[in-house]
Amino acid sequence: MKKHFILILGLSMFLSACAEQKNKTSKDPIAQEAKNDAQYRPGFHFTPNQNWMNDPNGMFYLNGTFHLYFQHHPESNVWGPMHWGHATSTDLMNWEEHPIALYPDALGTIFSGSAVIDFENTSGLGTKENPPIVAIYTNHDAEAEKTGSSTYQNQSIAYSTDKGFTWSKYEQNPVVKNPGIKDFRDPKVFWMDSQSKWILSLAAGQEIQYYESKNLLDWTFLSTFGTGIGNHNGVWECPDLFPMKIEGTDSIKWVQLVSINPGGPNGGSATQYFVGDFDGTQFTLDNEFQADLEKNHRFWTDFGRDNYAGVTFSNWKSEKGNPLLLGWMSNWLYATSVPTEQWRSAMTLPRNLELHKIEGRFILKSDLAIKWDAFTTKKTSRSKTKIEGSNTLVEANSLDLQAAKITVELTNLESTRYTFDLENDLGDKLSFGYDHRTQQFFIDRSQSGKVDFSKEFTKQPSTAPRFGDQNSLTIELVLDKASIELFYDAGETVMTEIFFPNAPYQTLRLRSEEKTNTEYSAEFIELNPSKSSE
Ligand code: FRU
Repeated sequence: MKKHFILILGLSMFLSACAEQKNKTSKDPIAQEAKNDAQYRPGFHFTPNQNWMNDPNGMFYLNGTFHLYFQHHPESNVWGPMHWGHATSTDLMNWEEHPIALYPDALGTIFSGSAVIDFENTSGLGTKENPPIVAIYTNHDAEAEKTGSSTYQNQSIAYSTDKGFTWSKYEQNPVVKNPGIKDFRDPKVFWMDSQSKWILSLAAGQEIQYYESKNLLDWTFLSTFGTGIGNHNGVWECPDLFPMKIEGTDSIKWVQLVSINPGGPNGGSATQYFVGDFDGTQFTLDNEFQADLEKNHRFWTDFGRDNYAGVTFSNWKSEKGNPLLLGWMSNWLYATSVPTEQWRSAMTLPRNLELHKIEGRFILKSDLAIKWDAFTTKKTSRSKTKIEGSNTLVEANSLDLQAAKITVELTNLESTRYTFDLENDLGDKLSFGYDHRTQQFFIDRSQSGKVDFSKEFTKQPSTAPRFGDQNSLTIELVLDKASIELFYDAGETVMTEIFFPNAPYQTLRLRSEEKTNTEYSAEFIELNPSKSSE
C-alpha cells in the first residue's frame, strides 16, 4: 500500500513538473515568436525569408518569369536603411528569393522605384541583342536629411545585363535631381510607344510630376498633376500611370494611381486612383470622373487596411490587355509591430485591373491573376440554400481555411446585415460582410486573435461603400493563414486585411440579422500552392 502511494506521489510530481515545463515553453518569448512566425507565414503570398519588407519595387515580366524587388532591411525586422530585395515566380503563387539586388551607396539608401526592359537599348547600357533592364529608384540620403537639407531624395539608375539578377549603378547618378522638394520619390517609368519616348512619374510633395526622356538617362520636366484633387490627408507616394481600354469599348483612358499615407478610407495607408487623359505632356482628369470625385471620393483600389504602395508590372499585359497590380499587404499604422519576428509582412496577391464605365461612372475593378485550377486540391459546392439563423458554410476539419478560395452568391437581398464569421475554438473571430441597409461592406477584426500589439489595428471596423444596389451579390475571398482578400461584385469593391488568430480558424458561418428570404450558394476550393510542381 505504502509502495503504491509513493509511486502515485512520484508520478504526480513528475506530471506536474512536465506541465510546468510545458507552461514555461509556451510562455517563453522566443519559442512563442518562432511559433507565431510559422503560424502566420503565408503559403502563397510573398514574404521575405528574413526581416523587414515594405513596398514592391521594379516589377517586370520577362521570358516566363515575374520579377519582384522589394523595400528590404536585411538586418532588422523593422524599417531601416533600405535595400532592394529580389524574388521571382513563374506562377505568381510560388516565389523564390534571390540575393539582394541593390545596396545603399554614397548617394543614399535605395527607396522605391520601377524597372523597364530597354528593348531598343536606348540607354546604351546593354546591347540590342542583350537589352539591359534599367531600374530607376530614389536615393535617400539620410545624413543630408539630418542636416535639414530639402534635397535629400534624388532619382538614380541601375542596370542589369543578366535579366535582373545582378546590377550595376549608373556612374552619373542621380539622373533626376531634387529641385528642393522634401518628398520627391518613387519614380515609375514606361515607354510611350505613340510618341517614342520614356515617361517618368514621381511623387513630389502633394502632387505628381511627369518627365520625359529618349534614353532613360537625360530627363526633361513636363508637368504636374494633383494639387487640390483627390485625397491630400497624407504624403503622396508611389504613383503609376498607364493607359487602359474601357471594358467593352475601344476607348482608351489613362489611370493615375497615387498611394497616400495616412489618409486612407479606413485610416493609414491606401491607394487612390484618377481617370483621365495623358497627351504625352499633361495628365488631365476626365470631366465625368471629376464630377463624381467632387461628389464623393470613393476611388480607392482597395478599401481594406492592408494594401499599399501597389504598382503594375512592366512588360506584362493580361489576356484582355490590362495591367497587373501587386501591393504591400500592411499599413504604416502598425506594420512594424505585427506579431511576427523572423520576417515582417507579405505582398498581396497580384490583380488584373479592369476599367469599367457603369452608368457614366468609372470603376477600376480588380480580378485575381491566379490560374486557380493548377492549385486546387479539393472543390465542393453548396447549391441555393435559405439563410436561416446562423448557417455553417465550413464545418471544422471539412476544409483547410489556411489556404482556401471561397465564392458565395447571395440572392434576394433584404434590408438587413449579412455577416460571415471565421472562428476557432478559442473564441477568436474575424467577421466581415455586407449591410444592405447602408449598402456598406465591413470587416471587423476586433476579436480576431492577437490584436493588442497596436491600438490602431482594431480602432474601428473597416467599411467600404457598394457601388450599385442590385439585390444579389457575389463575394470571392482568399484566405492564406493570416490574410483575407475580399472581392465583392466581381472586384468592384475590394477589401484586403491581415489578422493573427491564436489558433487557425476552423469554421465559417453566415448569418443575417433578421429573418430573410435571402438564399446563398457557394463554392469552396482548397489550395495547395506546390500542386502545380508535383
Ligand atoms: C511607401 C514609401 C515610399 C518610399 C519607401 C521607403 O511605403 O514611404 O514612398 O520610397 O516607402 O521605404
